[in-house]
Amino acid sequence: MRNIILDTDIGVDDAFALAYAARTQRLLGITTVFGNVTVEQAVKNARLFCQKMQIDAPIFRGCSRPLAQAPTSPAALVHGSDGLGGVFANPFNGEADNAVDFIIRSVNAHPGEITLVAIGPLTNIASAINQAPEIIARVKEIVIMGGAFGTQGHAGNVTPFSEFNIWKDPHAADQVLSSALPIVLMPLDVTHQVLIGGEAIRALQQPVLEAISRSYLDYSLKKERFEGMALHDTLTISWLVNPAWFGCVRSPLRVITEGIASGQTQRQLTNLASRHNAFADCTEQRICLEVDAEAVKHHFLTTLRGA
Ligand code: BDR
Ligand code: CA
Repeated sequence: MRNIILDTDIGVDDAFALAYAARTQRLLGITTVFGNVTVEQAVKNARLFCQKMQIDAPIFRGCSRPLAQAPTSPAALVHGSDGLGGVFANPFNGEADNAVDFIIRSVNAHPGEITLVAIGPLTNIASAINQAPEIIARVKEIVIMGGAFGTQGHAGNVTPFSEFNIWKDPHAADQVLSSALPIVLMPLDVTHQVLIGGEAIRALQQPVLEAISRSYLDYSLKKERFEGMALHDTLTISWLVNPAWFGCVRSPLRVITEGIASGQTQRQLTNLASRHNAFADCTEQRICLEVDAEAVKHHFLTTLRGA
């Protein structure tokens, strides 16, 4: 069990990840960021979901827009009008203390002890390392859901090149992925291999999880002819539970920040002896490209089952 801060733009799979994290890790705080929803809605969603699932963790408000590019709209088509399937009235407000300050303060107070889990755009994390670069050496590990490398055809989910979290703020992602933070990346290459159907969700007998996932399941049935969802964000927590479920390669990372491939993640594929090697100053990071999907699903489903 690790001490974690969960950084999230809380939509449906983020909520699943939060529920899984609350049962398997020590959750020090939830930091919110724009992405699937506005940051204000993310604070409201975190409060509502924590109340309904009896999760006790402080909630912070992070960045409301990307570092450099113009903001794009929330992902209402996939995650519903409010990011949580549009099924519950939400009485909470969107005010909260500053997320970036919380990350910096916590990591500095407990060097080497805190794992960051980032399941939305990387804007809060980039802001934290820009404001307080000393935390880079003090983070125990950062597990990130994001990116796509095209193995077995698993490429972008927003554009042919790019995965949502990275595409929403490619400049922040490039700063984080090219930094010396100890990164584990969960790209679509693995998250698209771990799918659960509506029947498995209903069998959890978790009314809140079932309700928030209904519109997500409808969307994937219409769009992909599959009544189910990729567990995307939950795989970051699976890594904390058992890293042996994953097969990784090590490589420096960069992100394309402009043009038709904006948001595309790149890893070094050759040992190029050139002055023009964009990976030259980057740290080797772990990129998960293989997963024991059955083991990941089984643990997730048995952990979440019942009250
Ligand atoms: C990522 O995009 C978001 O919509 C999901 O919550 C997940 O973090 C998958 O590409
Ligand atoms: Ca997410």
